[in-house]
Order: sequence, then structure tokens, then C-alpha cells
Amino acid sequence: MHITSDPVVMNDWFVVAAARSLKAEGLIHTRLLGQDIRVWRDSAGHAHAAPHAGDGQGAAAEYRVQEAYDSIWVSLGKPTRELFDVPEFCQPGRRIINCGAIGVHTSGLRIVENFLDMAHFPFVHTDWLGQEPYTEVKDYKVDVRSDTDEIWATECRFWQPKAAPTASGGMEVEYTYRVMQPFSTMLYKSCPTRPGEFDIIFLLIQPLDEDRCLAHAIFAYFDTTSADAELISFMQLIFGQDKPILENQLPKLIPLDARSEIPTRADAMSIAYRRWLREKGVQYGVQKEAYMPA
Ligand SMILES: [Fe+2]
Repeated sequence: MHITSDPVVMNDWFVVAAARSLKAEGLIHTRLLGQDIRVWRDSAGHAHAAPHAGDGQGAAAEYRVQEAYDSIWVSLGKPTRELFDVPEFCQPGRRIINCGAIGVHTSGLRIVENFLDMAHFPFVHTDWLGQEPYTEVKDYKVDVRSDTDEIWATECRFWQPKAAPTASGGMEVEYTYRVMQPFSTMLYKSCPTRPGEFDIIFLLIQPLDEDRCLAHAIFAYFDTTSADAELISFMQLIFGQDKPILENQLPKLIPLDARSEIPTRADAMSIAYRRWLREKGVQYGVQKEAYMPA
């Protein structure tokens, strides 16, 4: 597949690496939106990104780069706005655990949509994030914030048998979801060991191609007892349950025409997400024409 001409994604920011994994004078080769790129840190500690050497685009061209949320972000175009703001990330007492990236063979937009879907917890994450007969998705609120153009879903509640490695039993967990960019989402989730506080999970998608992605997961947790490896294992366990389901969904590119919405599911967030993507005119990772199953 070739580099995209979709201006929405070209002018957006994407995670391409964990900041901590790129040491001084280190270099990594990766891919973004169909473009092979190299990302490196100079001896002064500044991160850079450019097209992969040898692809004829000239050695002088460098992309815009910034570091935030323990990640290196690259834009292949001219970003039209600042990166989203998560002030809680710097709250004292939080531990930042960068879980790394998992490859998923589907559209990044499907990965975000799946992250927003609470209805699958009892069936896909059985005995962890859900359990029959607690299958009800209670009503919650969804709105698009006019100041930041982000989707927020609030007052989401779900009964979970093992909401986190530190959870000692079942609890009704409260969630707030945010979609900050088409390929960047996060949630705030009740912290089992600190009532009233919320743990943070980011899911930041790096589309390699339209139907092939790396999903970067970052935790900002108040947990003081679990080792990093336990939290990373927890993420890998949960995400490992989602991955085969995501990869079996067809078509791989997400359909955005209004007729493809299924109004019977408890998916107010999915409907809001698809509408928001349509209004932005996102093309990348979107089904282009009528899909005819084989
Ligand atoms: Fe899931």
C-alpha cells in the first residue's frame, strides 16, 4: 500500500514509539500511514523523524516530532492544532507504565471502536472485565465537546469481576471514555485501591497501513503494589482476547455509511464515533465502496 493523500490523517499526530525506548543516538525504523520512516534521537536528546533513507524523498526532509505521554509523536503533514491535553497524566502518585505495542491486522478505527464498546466485556473478557449474567450496558452520556472537538462518554458503569490486577473481588466500575483524535482514545476507570480516584489507560493507534496497525497501550495508574510486568501482562491478556476478534471482523476497513449502523446494539458511543469520523471526512481505514462479502 502507498502513502495516503487523506489530509485529515496527514495533518494529525501519531505515536510511532515509546519515548523511553529511544535512547540518545538511538535509531528505529518503523512505518506510518504507508510511509516507511526512521525515528532517531540526537546526542542532545532531541527526537527526529524522516522518510526512510533511499525512498527518493531527499535526505533534508524531516517530519514534525514531539514527545508527550511517554511517547514520540510524528505528523507527516502540517498539524492544524496542538496535541490533546490530559492534565491528570502528571498528577502526583501516578505510575506511568508503557506497555509497548501490539500488532493488529485491521483498520485502526475498528480498534478504537472496539475499545469504546462495553457490551463485549462479559463475552470476550469473561471473568476479568465482565461475567454473565451482568451483561447490561446501563445508559450513559455521550457528547462531542465543542471546545476540543473530542468525544466524551461519561457515567459509564459496568460490573467487573477483576477490573485490575489489584482488584480483590467484583466491583461496579465507573468509566469515562475520551476520543481525542480519530486514532487516539483513552479511558478513566475507578481505581480499586483508591476510591474516588481514576486510573488512566491510553490506546494510541499507529496505522502502518489502512488495515495494519500497532496499538500502543500506556497506563497511568495509582497502583503501588503490582510490578510493571504484572500490569503489562494484564494488558497483554486483555488485548490478546480482543486481537483475534478484531482480526476476524470483515470488512477490515470500517464502513461509515449510515446504513451500516446497527441501532439495536447498546452502542451509542460507536454511533457517535462513526458520525464524528464522517463529519471530519476521515478516509484512511474507511471502507471506500459497497462491500460485497465473498
Ligand atoms: Fe476488549
